[in-house]
Amino acid sequence: MSEVYERAFAKVNLHLEVLGKRPDGYHELETIMHEVELFDDLYLMPGGDGVRLEVSDPAVGVGEDNLAVKAVRALEKRLGRSFPCAIRLVKRIPAGGGLGGGSSDAGAVLRALDRAFGLGLPAETLEDVAATFGSDTSFFIRGGTAMCRGRGEIITPMAAPKPLHFVLVLPGIHVPTPLVFKSLRLTDSPRASYDLARNLSTGNVAGVVPLLFNRLEEPARREFPELDRLLSSLAPYGAIMSGSGSTLFFVCDSREDAEQKGREVRASCNTKTVVAASASR
Ligand code: C5P
Repeated sequence: MSEVYERAFAKVNLHLEVLGKRPDGYHELETIMHEVELFDDLYLMPGGDGVRLEVSDPAVGVGEDNLAVKAVRALEKRLGRSFPCAIRLVKRIPAGGGLGGGSSDAGAVLRALDRAFGLGLPAETLEDVAATFGSDTSFFIRGGTAMCRGRGEIITPMAAPKPLHFVLVLPGIHVPTPLVFKSLRLTDSPRASYDLARNLSTGNVAGVVPLLFNRLEEPARREFPELDRLLSSLAPYGAIMSGSGSTLFFVCDSREDAEQKGREVRASCNTKTVVAASASR
């Protein structure tokens, strides 16, 4: 058995609507997730004793709480056998930013285990395992672009043939996901995603931009005034928040346009920016 490599891409939510609160305390979502070419490197070497995790970023814990370790444990539980391995993660996706970094690492671990141990499991099985320890983990099994419903774990892959060019704006504000959901005021007129989905599938990028939407933006803005100010100053670019924040993003015409606007935002708002196109696996 030899080492396998997987890219763990970040995502943005092009559409995120909250349809209601569920009896289990979670919220019913309808969200379009879209992978971007910002990624962590994941190396998995099968063998040895137990699960050993090494992460390039010393701020990231390497114990049982890390989603990469949880992914191994969840597959062990599902299949009733152990998967001893050494995992090495080179982090580039900022943690806690609404970009799904930890969840994507977990998805990559499941894909890597499937390959390294020759399991041949269907994507749907890996998605099911991923759903046992997270809400946005299942998306990262197949990645690309997908409509995600339920807690986020019911995945319908979508077509998005034309790459989008993004500027990601990283304000460095820690926004706890449970707080944003708790502060949310539920709507009785949910925003439909139909037009956005159609424009994505026909490659109508100009038609995608004005339809970007995130219901969690309003509570996040209310709870974090500095995020509110930053979103106001990025309004001319059409920026919205990704996931439960704090990463903001907007779509540009081309990579050059994104690089130019990224520089402008870095200078005027004094924040970190990353330019990334849609990912292709
Ligand atoms: O499942 P995950 O650990 O990603 O969720 C983190 C938190 O986000 C949950 O504890 C819950 O407060 C909130 N959440 C929610 N509804 C969802 C997903 C997450 O309320 N569909």
